[in-house]
Amino acid sequence: MPIEKDDRVYILLEDGRDYLVRVTPGKSLGTHLGNLELSELLGKEFGEWVFTSKGKKAFLLQPGVVENIFHMRRRTQIVYPKDLGYILLMLDVKEGDRVIDVGLGSGAMCGALARLVGESGRVYAYERREDFIALAQENLKEWGVIDRVTIHLQDIEEGFVERDVDALFLDVPEPWKYLRQCWDALRGGGRLAIVSPTAGQVIEVLRGLGALPFVAVQVWESLFREYKPNPSTFRPFDRMVAHTTYMIFARKVFETP
Ligand SMILES: C[S@@+](CC[C@H](N)C(=O)[O-])C[C@H]1O[C@@H](n2cnc3c(N)ncnc32)[C@H](O)[C@@H]1O
Repeated sequence: MPIEKDDRVYILLEDGRDYLVRVTPGKSLGTHLGNLELSELLGKEFGEWVFTSKGKKAFLLQPGVVENIFHMRRRTQIVYPKDLGYILLMLDVKEGDRVIDVGLGSGAMCGALARLVGESGRVYAYERREDFIALAQENLKEWGVIDRVTIHLQDIEEGFVERDVDALFLDVPEPWKYLRQCWDALRGGGRLAIVSPTAGQVIEVLRGLGALPFVAVQVWESLFREYKPNPSTFRPFDRMVAHTTYMIFARKVFETP
């Protein structure tokens, strides 16, 4: 499919710098390797390239979840792809699922969930700040998944509207306060994932989970190290993103074990 007006294109320069643009004829993208007239992208196929005004190659690729997250507008801490992938697997999110996401924040996790639940599923997002909802709505619209999301401007202390959801993702500063509300919203066997950056928060959550009918409780941290993809100097990058968050998982049952 050739690139058309208003398509979103992930542009990768030959030195690895990247950009995410919407193709708007008349607009240009300024880069340190020269300018690109966006109208030049029209009719090109993804996988092809164009030259910048300085004669450097710019590859034209489709954006995915990872590029969306790294290039999104954000005003809150977001869930990073290194953790997000594992959380989505542990929540077993798939086409047709009904999933709750709290707090919506800038919408990074919500966008990833919305893509996985597909046309027949639904994400119910909760957020207590109107300004964050406005930003997340912009992001979700940009990614083309807003139609799969119901947003509640609501503090989850009041609980959730939905019942029997397949999975629930909780990313708030004091998650242990809302575990009863999470249990009420989940279906039997439903999956809960919580992210918390500090050990004290995890301990509070574990105490809370222990007092409710949840099983399969696990706590994980992902340590990811990127390597220089160069055959002659292959080795780790000097810096790594080490701790981002702890991830806590549990499943709802009806009887306290
Ligand atoms: C770290 S951000 C969430 C980021 C989001 N998961 C993402 O991937 O972009 C935490 C959000 O939770 C919201 N929040 C905190 N406590 C809440 C509560 N009790 N009810 C609803 N939203 C809450 C905050 O306003 C904030 O936007």
